[in-house]
Amino acid sequence: MLNPGGNIQLDGEGRLRHFLTTDGLDRRILIEILDHAESFAVVGDRPVKKVPLLRGKTIVNLFFEASTRTRTTFEIAAKRLSADVQSLSVNLSSTTKGESLRDTLQTMEAMHCDMFVIRHSGSGAAHFIARLVAPHVSIINGGDGRNAHPTQALLDMFTIRQHKPDFAALRVAIVGDITHSRVARSDIYALNTLGVREIRVVGPKTLIPAGIESLGVKVYTEMESGLRGVDVIIMLRLQRERMRSALLPSEQEYFRCYGLTEERLRLAREDVMVMHPGPINRGIEIDSRVADGERSVILQQVSNGIAIRMAVMALIAGAGRGRA
Ligand code: CP
Repeated sequence: MLNPGGNIQLDGEGRLRHFLTTDGLDRRILIEILDHAESFAVVGDRPVKKVPLLRGKTIVNLFFEASTRTRTTFEIAAKRLSADVQSLSVNLSSTTKGESLRDTLQTMEAMHCDMFVIRHSGSGAAHFIARLVAPHVSIINGGDGRNAHPTQALLDMFTIRQHKPDFAALRVAIVGDITHSRVARSDIYALNTLGVREIRVVGPKTLIPAGIESLGVKVYTEMESGLRGVDVIIMLRLQRERMRSALLPSEQEYFRCYGLTEERLRLAREDVMVMHPGPINRGIEIDSRVADGERSVILQQVSNGIAIRMAVMALIAGAGRGRA
């Protein structure tokens, strides 16, 4: 049996059925996604940016929270795989009349859709839906609350691998609002599974969850020591929409203590990569000269989102061919 723990994300053959979290996914699956993405990355350079892998499949984007990058790159990725894609505008949907997530999903399922990409403010929303859908339907998590953003983590791993393929040699600093960040959690699981040398989380005490060391990270509350000698810096946005109370004195004070400036960048390795999942807030967590500077790979992350999302959807659909 290839799925002995009964991971809901895998089918009985150990192939990807849903993509909900990087927590508990083994190295084999992560590498398979990264390798597939490698072959899909070149599709965007062709005159005809399409492959026929998902012809006849219907994919629905259900975004109950705002998104620019994830929603658009999922849509482009599905079209490049020749799928039929529908993005539901939640503000114009029956959600505004009180329809539950479960009823919305079951309504869309009745239209014979094959795959749903879901973004929702509730942590666990994607898992909840994955337990309800019919066996031939797959769920991809486009970000749920503060829980997980697995395709973001994989596109981050893909971008790191393009520049620094030896994960075992890397020191990675994740900086900012760790408490409210689904990206931080998903990146930590993926980085650990891929065997990086050291993961640091850097930020004010009020934005670092108690006990996070149990995920295999080192905590730094001082920016200068946290950045010293690192190969990769992943900056995070302050997730004000998820903060229940004031956890910071002011944005100016935050930038003074934790903003990534050119001066602070010099503490890291000379060939350091600067990453950010976006959207970026210039002058709050990152200086414009760093965001637009030569060490930044922020826009490359966006481009890589298409290849990673193509890979995830193609692998799920490939596994699904054996299902009823
Ligand atoms: N990184 C990310 O999830 O960006 P969006 O919110 O624009 O999708």
